[in-house]
Amino acid sequence: MRDQIQAARDAAEARLAAVTSLAEARALETELLGKKGPFAEFKTRLAGLATVEEKKAAGQAVNEATQAVAAAVEARLGELKAGERAAQLVAERLDLTETMYRPGRGHAHVVTQAWQRLEDVFVGLGFQVAEGPEVETDWHNFEALNMPPQHPARSMHDTFYVDHGAPGSTVLRTHTSPVQIRVMQSTPPPIYAVMPGRVFRNETTDATHLAVFHQIEGLVIDRGITLADLAGTIEAFTRAFFGEGFTSRLRPSYFPFTEPSAEFDIRTPNGTWLELGGSGMVHPNVLTAVGLDPEVWSGFAFGFGIDRMAKERHGIGDVREMYTNDLRFLEQF
Ligand code: FA5
Repeated sequence: MRDQIQAARDAAEARLAAVTSLAEARALETELLGKKGPFAEFKTRLAGLATVEEKKAAGQAVNEATQAVAAAVEARLGELKAGERAAQLVAERLDLTETMYRPGRGHAHVVTQAWQRLEDVFVGLGFQVAEGPEVETDWHNFEALNMPPQHPARSMHDTFYVDHGAPGSTVLRTHTSPVQIRVMQSTPPPIYAVMPGRVFRNETTDATHLAVFHQIEGLVIDRGITLADLAGTIEAFTRAFFGEGFTSRLRPSYFPFTEPSAEFDIRTPNGTWLELGGSGMVHPNVLTAVGLDPEVWSGFAFGFGIDRMAKERHGIGDVREMYTNDLRFLEQF
């Protein structure tokens, strides 16, 4: 029997050396060392041997052979694993320094282009760029902006509420003005910042209205800032963004967080006026809400719609066109 055991061990080792994949090696492991394998069978045959000495010698030989085959299986599995890992590394190799011989296809979306150009123009005028979260607290979006709980803008008809925290305490921001609050809370004046971002309103969409759109907010807080600074900044911006033939005007308006407030219009070279956004002097209640003394600090803020600016700049008839993802439309810009 000992010769048979030795022969089985040699055969097992030879077969192991010949396998070429992990799956094969695992199948062979089960076949050789499992309950129906040759070594298990030798063990059941031990009982039939004639003498105790024979049983002892054969038993020892089976154990040694089983251990040797188990060790050979482990070693072969290790080799195959290392080999497969090396092959995977070669197959999945990524050369991050590789250069493209052709320019990539596609380009920034027309609204992204407008967003980036707006940032460039304001950075050129000395402003910093800040961002805030799209999911906002009611306090930042309304309360700190001098809009008390009964204000109509806070109705479910206009605002998407998020089911988080106390009922009505979390909203999808309806404008970029809450970022003013965050900037004033985190940065001591003087502040010269613009804050672009996505905003959400529970609106029926039409040629000039979207439910998800983009605004850019501007905020200046310093000593001795007046409405003349606001008008001058808007005029400088209009020329830089739209070109020399354009001019701007401020029209009296109302926003709870600015006093006085003004609508900001631009005049195109052919003489038509377009409304772009709202603006005004930061309301003393807003300065107080963020801990700034209105007797020391003053400032102005403005906010306008990026989608509508892109629409006007490119003569697009309907803002919704920009989001239908029709390449024939998008490729024009
Ligand atoms: C505001 O959102 C104020 N937060 C603006 C502001 C900032 C005033 C700072 C004073 C000081 P209003 O709701 O008017 O205001 O929106 C501003 C601009 O966003 C609009 O002029 C328009 O260009 C754009 N806009 C408003 N609603 C939509 C809409 N549904 N779809 C696309 N653009 C819109």
